[in-house]
Amino acid sequence: MKWIDLETRCYAPYSGLKDFCMVKGSSGVLHPGVRVENISFPLSIGAAQAAIFSCLSEGDTPGALLFPDKIETKDHTRKTSSCSEKELLYWCDEFGLKCNTSSHPVSGTDERFFQTNEQNADIVRLRELTDRCIIPYSAFPVTALLVTDAGIFSGVNIEVDDWQKGLCAERVAIAKARASGAASFQEIHVYAPQSDYVSPCGACRQVLVEHMGDGVMYMHHNDVETSRLTVADLLPYQFKAGSLGHKQH
Ligand code: THU
Repeated sequence: MKWIDLETRCYAPYSGLKDFCMVKGSSGVLHPGVRVENISFPLSIGAAQAAIFSCLSEGDTPGALLFPDKIETKDHTRKTSSCSEKELLYWCDEFGLKCNTSSHPVSGTDERFFQTNEQNADIVRLRELTDRCIIPYSAFPVTALLVTDAGIFSGVNIEVDDWQKGLCAERVAIAKARASGAASFQEIHVYAPQSDYVSPCGACRQVLVEHMGDGVMYMHHNDVETSRLTVADLLPYQFKAGSLGHKQH
């Protein structure tokens, strides 16, 4: 694994800004994060947020944020762009992280890259994952399992002091899948044990449509019933790339 491999996983069709980083968890695992943009720009996920939330969603504790110092591209060597300094300060402060640059993502022998080890996308696993939700403000757990060409990725909802910077379970799963190189997303399973009828929020619908417009969502209602809906049907009259008339990178 090289930094440049991570760069190729960024989803930045609107800005072309390739932001990526790693979070080293206390387990020694390196959790990748890449910028994941949305046609509705404010719904974009930053690389640092993606990497930290990936680490937390796996039950690991973030220890340090690693960015590349320089990266070799085909035509020249350049310094990579990274999140804005303010954004980095926020995350480092929120989680007490050290922020380092490194010429290569692996520096120690005890370090491993995050690899999804989810075996099944079913209610049993969705239920187990509720233990990983970080919900100090809502006490409302939500879990997700995303089935992709690169395996099954889990997501849990994660809340931080600044509510706007938390993420829903569905979006944590999408961010992890992108950073792991998944390119096609078939189905997403969602579970929220405290509600009688699970229904994803509008922001998640917008993000799901962008990554899996042909995919399917399974909503597992209170351990009893499941609804199956196409992602496209979840968001009629959606805001699409065509609406923006923006040059795509
Ligand atoms: N939440 C999700 O994880 N997914 C949704 O689709 C709806 C809302 C979470 C976010 C927050 O942690 C809590 O539920 C209350 O909004």
